[in-house]
Amino acid sequence: MPARPTPRRTVLKGVALAGAAGAGLAACSTESKLGHAEEPTPTAPVDLGAADAVPVGGVKLYREQRLVVSCPAEGQYKAFSAQCTHAGCVLDKVEGTEGNCPCHGSRFDCTTGKATKGPATVPLPEVPISAKDGRLVAGPGA
Ligand code: FES
Repeated sequence: MPARPTPRRTVLKGVALAGAAGAGLAACSTESKLGHAEEPTPTAPVDLGAADAVPVGGVKLYREQRLVVSCPAEGQYKAFSAQCTHAGCVLDKVEGTEGNCPCHGSRFDCTTGKATKGPATVPLPEVPISAKDGRLVAGPGA
């Protein structure tokens, strides 16, 4: 007995359902499989607190906000992402003005963002920052 061909409507319905399931899988969180945020810089302004927490000529790590801030001169600030450009770990400490990545040992000059020791070679992305009423705000529009 010859097999009956599958009606075209049934086939199309199956494809539509598979497509909907695929769309559901494509919707993902902002965290990668490694647990690192996929966006290395803030997507909205972040309040970092008192501006004088960053010493003149020094650097402060804001690990929770994934930022490092330097103060080259009184009232002047520069901010960079604290997410390593090698594989996305967050810097764990700053020694002098040099940030350390705990995962594979990369180091960065936190006054310029430049990688000073590999395996990372790409600089830390710069983030806009401003001081308003004695408080630091970093991120878009800062
Ligand atoms: S993730 Fe920083 S050195 Fe590899």
